[in-house]
Amino acid sequence: MHEFTFKNSELYCENIKVAEIAKSVPTPFYLYSYKTLIDHYRKIKTAFSPIKPLICFSMKSNSNLAIVRAMVKNGAGLDIVSGGELYRARLAGAKGNSVVYAGVGKRPDEIKDAIKFGIFFFNVESEEELGQIQKTAFALKKKVNIAIRINPDVIPKTHKYIATGKGETKFGLDFETVHKIFNAKWRYPNLNIRGVHIHIGSQILDAAPFENAIKKVLDFIKEYHIETEYLNIGGGLGIMYSMENPQTAKGFAKSVLPMLKKSGLKIILEPGRFISGNSGIFVTRVLYTKRTPRKKFVIVDGGMSDLIRPSLYEAYHKIVPVVARQDSSETAEKVDVVGPICESGDFLGKDRLLPQSVKGDLLAVMGAGAYGFTMSSNYNSRPRSSEVMVIGNKFYTVRRNETYQDLVRGEMIPKVLK
Ligand code: LLP
Repeated sequence: MHEFTFKNSELYCENIKVAEIAKSVPTPFYLYSYKTLIDHYRKIKTAFSPIKPLICFSMKSNSNLAIVRAMVKNGAGLDIVSGGELYRARLAGAKGNSVVYAGVGKRPDEIKDAIKFGIFFFNVESEEELGQIQKTAFALKKKVNIAIRINPDVIPKTHKYIATGKGETKFGLDFETVHKIFNAKWRYPNLNIRGVHIHIGSQILDAAPFENAIKKVLDFIKEYHIETEYLNIGGGLGIMYSMENPQTAKGFAKSVLPMLKKSGLKIILEPGRFISGNSGIFVTRVLYTKRTPRKKFVIVDGGMSDLIRPSLYEAYHKIVPVVARQDSSETAEKVDVVGPICESGDFLGKDRLLPQSVKGDLLAVMGAGAYGFTMSSNYNSRPRSSEVMVIGNKFYTVRRNETYQDLVRGEMIPKVLK
């Protein structure tokens, strides 16, 4: 469920007409519903309440300061993957004891900053990284919490680019190496190796792969007497983009809670998309339409630089007119909704049955709250769009659109070329 609904053929975000917002905010822009965001966070929180886990919102799905602040204010922890995300987390008022840090390539300076911040856990992905964290922690005279990321070698049914828990991906370590590390804790006097971490992939629609992975890990802990207090089960819960029938938070909890409870371990979760995905849409305006012998194109002012998921993963995002026309069903036809970028891969939707749209119409790309703005770029020197959030009866610009000056900020022409 989300708060983007049609009333009298007009799309609303909560109680505000999207078209009304577009009168003062230049298109394209991302639009977020605070209520949807918090509702989804609460859904997970309630479903897992019997074990009171630490729920760390995965910032890579949406790291706008207002979104992160909203999560922190409502009691969520954060899952970060870079020094940049740590910087944002701090600005949003996050406390060290609720932030966990994953990723295969943490730089020494990033590690140092995170230790100084008092990071709750490093989720470590290699022995060399462990050595680096030990070295930095020793120099800072600090003791830090470590969870080792296990690659449980399970096959989640999802796009190959976002499946992370298979043996051949770069993520985590095999059981044998993890066992070796737990047996050699003495080698890392400044580290408290007291957790294991998994994250098997993203947009996973059913519980089976999670159950498999968790079972594998719990069996391993038991069989090899791994001394651990924490189990971080990562993120990955899928959402509905079109006809999918994803598990609910309740359903997911029902299938994994018994195992987790029985383990007696403290649990951490890292949901991203489940919380932010349906909390946002991408609003774009029709620039032109054209018919070729083979196709009809609707050319809009937002493209792959703003929302790359369709181009990169052939991801489906529902596209709807912000204001539906009276005669819409009769004039509906199959169109490609494409952006202004010079690539044939620049499309938001292909072969979509859409009511006839004309220059100036607004279209909404649904389910764009996760991995939308965070994956946007300046390709083709396009300034990035603004982001807007509806809270209660008002809307707020939570990021202004970039200017041409923003585009060249930090660039310089060497003297020899002048
Ligand atoms: N924890 C870790 C360690 C992760 O790597 C990720 C996502 C998450 C949590 C959150 O996963 P979620 O709950 O959002 O599925 N750009 C892709 C998704 C990449 C996910 C990367 N890792 C997309 O647009 O579908």
